[in-house]
Amino acid sequence: MKEGAVLLTTRGLSKSYGPFKAVDDVDLDIHEHDIHVFIGPNGAGKSTVLNMLGGQILPTTGEIVFNGKPLGTSTPSWRARAGIGRSFQLTSIIPGFTCLENVVLAVQAHRGLFGLLRLHSQKEDVAHATELLALVDLEKASEVPAELLSHGQQRQLEIAVALGGKPRLLLLDEPSSGMSAHERAGLGDLLKRVVNTATVVMAEHDVHVVRSVASRVTAFAEGKKIAEGSADDVFESADVKRVFLRGRRDA
Ligand SMILES: Nc1ncnc2c1ncn2[C@@H]1O[C@H](COP(=O)(O)OP(=O)(O)O)[C@@H](O)[C@H]1O
Ligand SMILES: [Mg+2]
Repeated sequence: MKEGAVLLTTRGLSKSYGPFKAVDDVDLDIHEHDIHVFIGPNGAGKSTVLNMLGGQILPTTGEIVFNGKPLGTSTPSWRARAGIGRSFQLTSIIPGFTCLENVVLAVQAHRGLFGLLRLHSQKEDVAHATELLALVDLEKASEVPAELLSHGQQRQLEIAVALGGKPRLLLLDEPSSGMSAHERAGLGDLLKRVVNTATVVMAEHDVHVVRSVASRVTAFAEGKKIAEGSADDVFESADVKRVFLRGRRDA
């Protein structure tokens, strides 16, 4: 496996709720331009790890280092400015605005006051937003009001909105949820275009999506890392097979 430089590390990352350990002593190395996928049954701790990387949840113990700097107790907005972007279901799209307007607003919000003082032209913002819409396969929907998109297309728009903030690291929680089979099939190509400019860390339950996109996989169970490596290696691991079979029996 060809490795980019390490962009983010966690050491001893843990999150407890009272005596319950939702995430338990997790060490991760996220390499630049990887699509690093978290797998594991419901409740394994995948979303909690993503939320700790994004700053929505602070760890109970352990540390996260991004681009050589410890993140400490920094807020999600501080981390966004430092280059950690995150797409949120429901909250990141503004209804009543077209797809293009949504992405233009994200591009402008990222520049903030400093950007406005530089008098960036509206034209440049629209051009950049149009590129991002093409990247997520929504160029034909640019004039469509965002709330009229299918659930799957909304997931795609959320990714374009997050990319408007020019993240070096993009966090995605189950991006294929709500997607049709056709949209799911396109997600792999979409993410492969995203990693030209960013590194992706995502949780995903659809095995086909994982196999088609992941350059590296970490499997979690009960808050602990149980396997890591290529998708083939991880799905072949005895621990992972045991956990997934148990999950299917319980279902
Ligand atoms: N605010 C909370 N209080 C108590 N337990 C929580 C809280 N948030 C998450 N958990 C528990 O932490 C565990 C990990 O959850 P989560 O990270 O959402 O798992 P996953 O994303 O892998 O399905 C689950 O058992 C969940 O019930
Ligand atoms: Mg989750």
